[in-house]
Amino acid sequence: MTSASTPIRIAPSLLSADFARLGEEVTAVIAAGADMIHFDVMDNHYVPNLTIGPLVCEAIKPYAVRNGVPVPIDVHLMVKPVDALIPMFIKAGASIISFHPEASEHVDRSIQLIKAGGAKAGLVLNPATPLNVLDHVIEALDLVLIMSVNPGFGGQSFIESALPKIALLRERIDRTGRQIWLEVDGGVKPANAARIAAAGADTLVAGSAVFTGGLAGGVYAQAIDALRSQALSGQSQARQNLLSQAR
Ligand code: DX5
Ligand code: ZN
Repeated sequence: MTSASTPIRIAPSLLSADFARLGEEVTAVIAAGADMIHFDVMDNHYVPNLTIGPLVCEAIKPYAVRNGVPVPIDVHLMVKPVDALIPMFIKAGASIISFHPEASEHVDRSIQLIKAGGAKAGLVLNPATPLNVLDHVIEALDLVLIMSVNPGFGGQSFIESALPKIALLRERIDRTGRQIWLEVDGGVKPANAARIAAAGADTLVAGSAVFTGGLAGGVYAQAIDALRSQALSGQSQARQNLLSQAR
């Protein structure tokens, strides 16, 4: 389980933002408390949908800032092949780049390419992808992203089998003794954030849960606060359960 000091990071997914006003959307979610900006790249090949690329990442980069300090842009590549886009996203200002192992010919090489460019490297596991794809590479990773929907679209329902997988991954990450972030993406809402964090996640992606009210609605802070407070209460409940088992 996550330790008492584990922060919860909330990463709003721009997939559900107003694409005609992306700069304003980034400014608004950062003002509302977002810890990172989740940037979904889909290629109409690895996944059926087609979204945004390095040019858009570069265009939003100046908006991804709080009090003069850059807010990380968390690029989730749902593309195949992977490697050609890595230097382009590094040049465009990505702070974290994650990819799906099925989409890369050489997973270790893709990780090394990301790290050589100075970004943090993440591997993304689809609902049916087993944790053993992490064998031999987990030590090189900064982040593991568990998909709790099949990738390609926002607004889908959370797949419950992600929860035991998150718990197993938490145990595995803790065994490495390294600070590897455990991110969860897909169908994350205030109603399930406590269970997701209790299972061991520390970074929650949320698209529709944050952006549904729209820029004019002024409820981004409410949504982000609800996700964070639910997640924190899930973490502390999990700790209490462990303590009562230990006594
Ligand atoms: C799905 C994307 C997600 C998506 C999440 O393939 O990777 O980041 O935007 O959207 P919600 O939170 O609405 O499920
Ligand atoms: Zn995503």
